[in-house]
Amino acid sequence: MEDFFEACGEAKKTAFSFKEPLIVHHHDADGVASGAIVVSAFLKEGRKFRRECIKKLDDNAIERYKKEKEIIFVDLGGGNERVNELQDVLIIDHHQTSEIKKHQINPLLYGIDGSDELSASGTAYFVFRNDVDLGIVGAVGDMQWPLTGANRKMLEEGVKSEKVTVEEDLKFYGRYSRPLVQFLAYSDDPYVPGISYREDRAFQLFKDLKIPIEEDGKGRVYADLDDGEKKKLISTIANIMIERGQISKVEELVGESYIFPLRPRNETYEANEFSTVLNACGRWGHAEVGISVCLGEKNGYEKARGLLQIHRKMLRGGMEYTAGNMQDFGNFFFLDGRGHINESIIGTVCGMATQQSWKKPIVGIAKGENATIKISTRGTRRLVNEGLNLGKMLRESVADIGGVGGGHRIAAGASIPKEKINEFLLMLSKKLEKLD
Ligand code: C5P
Repeated sequence: MEDFFEACGEAKKTAFSFKEPLIVHHHDADGVASGAIVVSAFLKEGRKFRRECIKKLDDNAIERYKKEKEIIFVDLGGGNERVNELQDVLIIDHHQTSEIKKHQINPLLYGIDGSDELSASGTAYFVFRNDVDLGIVGAVGDMQWPLTGANRKMLEEGVKSEKVTVEEDLKFYGRYSRPLVQFLAYSDDPYVPGISYREDRAFQLFKDLKIPIEEDGKGRVYADLDDGEKKKLISTIANIMIERGQISKVEELVGESYIFPLRPRNETYEANEFSTVLNACGRWGHAEVGISVCLGEKNGYEKARGLLQIHRKMLRGGMEYTAGNMQDFGNFFFLDGRGHINESIIGTVCGMATQQSWKKPIVGIAKGENATIKISTRGTRRLVNEGLNLGKMLRESVADIGGVGGGHRIAAGASIPKEKINEFLLMLSKKLEKLD
């Protein structure tokens, strides 16, 4: 990793050689977290900059950026050769990259796996060495869990500086923020037969275990339980799973999570919950709120809460639609979300759907802007080990049909003209067939 760290130092020099760059970052959790790391570094140095968040780097965006003297792309840029047409550019990315002639810092160029072991936020952290917690949030938001490789090094530095602690606990989402009943009922990773998606049963379980769900008229969250209550709850869930024949899944109940003791005790206290806040802000067009939360500004979190509620509602709606509308297209599962699932979350919904152990990739589509279709694809680790590379497949498939796309082996996205959808699906199907 030494040559990578050296290159990070060079990237920092380039960044600070710019007089007043435009910082352009992606709209997902990793994009907002990495954007915030760069913003924070510029603020600390008292340097001028402008910032904007985009969904994708397409031809329109490239044309618009031609007039910019200096740009720092964060969590995008490495996959689009047209950046070569721009003026001074620094790219901080971790996506699969092509013939880029601009200064790029990307772990993939140094033999570090950008899908699994370092995201854009981790890369930005190693460039500027500030906001280690945000480095971890972006990684977790990009499903790089548990943290290994270069991510582990970042974690160790975070622990050493006392900005991060590692907890081994129940893996369910919302330990610090979700009311107990919802915490138990809406966690499906792993799926608990008879409890997941059953609020009534979850409520009854707490009653049977004599674990109060309220204290002094205020709802309790999992983090409020004492050790005895936690043990009782975990062992009961484990027993339910064993009784229902899910012995092999029991060990998935508990895992590592990353806590930020210097942050307030709300969704920003734990990496996974923090990443959902950033997704909610960025994907619903309010990255500036996400950046403000990252920077710990007053009122930032209050503004983010409303967006988080919308985000959760949309995801729930998306999952409900998915349950009855996933089609088997032979080489992949197909989810036509047009008119039902917003393009901003089609990828997240597909990712949630893969948790139900699909043996084929999922291809989801949604209505995009300007007569386009947004495509999101998700695979599993097993499929990647068998040779699946969705990022490459998408980049190749859309190149000849006027689209833009790319990403990682396990998760990739694209936008194409809407009339090209059948052509695209056939092409992708052929590529997946060759894999078998
Ligand atoms: O949009 P979605 O969440 O499906 O994207 C999955 C991955 O593919 C992300 O890492 C995203 O940055 C990448 N992607 C890309 N080019 C696109 C769309 C998505 O590189 N046009």
